[in-house]
Amino acid sequence: MASTHTNEAVFQTRVLPVPTADLGCFKGREALETWELPSDVSALAHIQEAASYLQTQNIPVAFPTETVYGLGADATRSDAVLGIYKAKGRPSDNPLIIHICDLTMLRSLLVSPGAQVSDAESIPDIYKPLIKRFWPGPLTILLPNPIPSKLAPEVTAGLKTFGARMPSSPLALSLIRLSGVPIAAPSANASTKPSCTTADHVFHDLHGRIEIILDGGACTVGVESTVVDGLCSPPVVLRPGGVSIDDLRQCEGWEGVVKGYKDSSEVGASAPRAPGMKYKHYSPKAKVVLYEDSDETTDFFPEGHMVHGDGATLGQILSLGVVCTRHWDCAPDSQPESHNPIKAVFESKLIAGKTNGKGTKELKLRSKDGSWVLLTQISLGGETKDIAHGLFSALRELDERGVDVIYVEGIKDEGDIAAAVMNRLRKAATVIVEPR
Ligand code: TXA
Ligand code: MG
Repeated sequence: MASTHTNEAVFQTRVLPVPTADLGCFKGREALETWELPSDVSALAHIQEAASYLQTQNIPVAFPTETVYGLGADATRSDAVLGIYKAKGRPSDNPLIIHICDLTMLRSLLVSPGAQVSDAESIPDIYKPLIKRFWPGPLTILLPNPIPSKLAPEVTAGLKTFGARMPSSPLALSLIRLSGVPIAAPSANASTKPSCTTADHVFHDLHGRIEIILDGGACTVGVESTVVDGLCSPPVVLRPGGVSIDDLRQCEGWEGVVKGYKDSSEVGASAPRAPGMKYKHYSPKAKVVLYEDSDETTDFFPEGHMVHGDGATLGQILSLGVVCTRHWDCAPDSQPESHNPIKAVFESKLIAGKTNGKGTKELKLRSKDGSWVLLTQISLGGETKDIAHGLFSALRELDERGVDVIYVEGIKDEGDIAAAVMNRLRKAATVIVEPR
């Protein structure tokens, strides 16, 4: 396989496929007490290889979860955890999520090394309805970290709590079970880039920096887990994600949960004044211009926003990307009910033979001054679930195509998973265009 040439160690990166097969199940499914491996372990060979590697090496292993791909290391060993920060190129001041395969493993982390693990009472009551309803799944809960702790101090970045998540991906659960240790894992993207939802994305970002990528296909959810803190009152959602705030509110003790992140009501505050100085996150190479959802139809005018965005002018734009969700469609063959946001400035022409059938279209645009622009349009569909699933992939695909600017049609920031989608987009955006 290919490798990158950096000043750091260069590794051969292998992508190990894992077949869709029986990879295990919970014993007493309701209780989530123990994740058991299947009796036929033939499908587990590559997971076993990755697990053995995790136990002994200090280079992390990439693996799929239902949300995004993670970059995992033994959470109990400092050298292994430091390997994550090295591979990602990210500063080590951000705490990592601990992935556990069952409640038995979680309880063992709530007591100090050598201490007796007591019964279920060690898990704070506030989390019990959430665990019952959302685990295994895209929810991370903050728990008190005992002193001393079995977890390496680098995992928690000096905080008194640690974030724990039981993923629903059987591949991830079996990897943790076979490793026999909790796995610390941030998203497996290079620092500042959009998260990875396929093994190809991980290979693109990290080849040469890690040795093993487990390939379990595309992630189903597509955005990261919801992070909640139930140790304070009222409980707080620290990061919106795969479990919606509306669903959290239905659980006992969580009716009054508050948002600890910026939503649409604070867009003005979060919109960058000096784009170059903004802390980058989830960002493709291209400039991202995000249109907040509006009941009115919006047109985009590249010249205006490019000047606003980074000083470039229309004459310099050769290639544009557009991510359409509910209403936009720039193509000349668009449905009558859709809205064409470029019509006022450009005439568009479908480039024959370039429609790939996956919602991606290449268009040639002629502006009123007669110049030509290439536009790649990716349509994610109108369903929030599909938008979440395809979002990071779309941003990455447009980057691969080398577009200069990506225009994104935002969606209404409601109490569902749309909150996670818009949260990531606002962080990725160079410019946010608010409704008129
Ligand atoms: O879906 C996910 O959560 C993915 C997959 C791989 O599981 N992981 C992920 O990890 O997104 P990462 O490192 O990219 O994001 C971890 C988030 C950060 O926002 C971090 O600040 C927060 O969780 N977090 C972790 N531990 C925390 C703690 N003790 N206190 C507050 N926030 C914490
Ligand atoms: Mg991340």
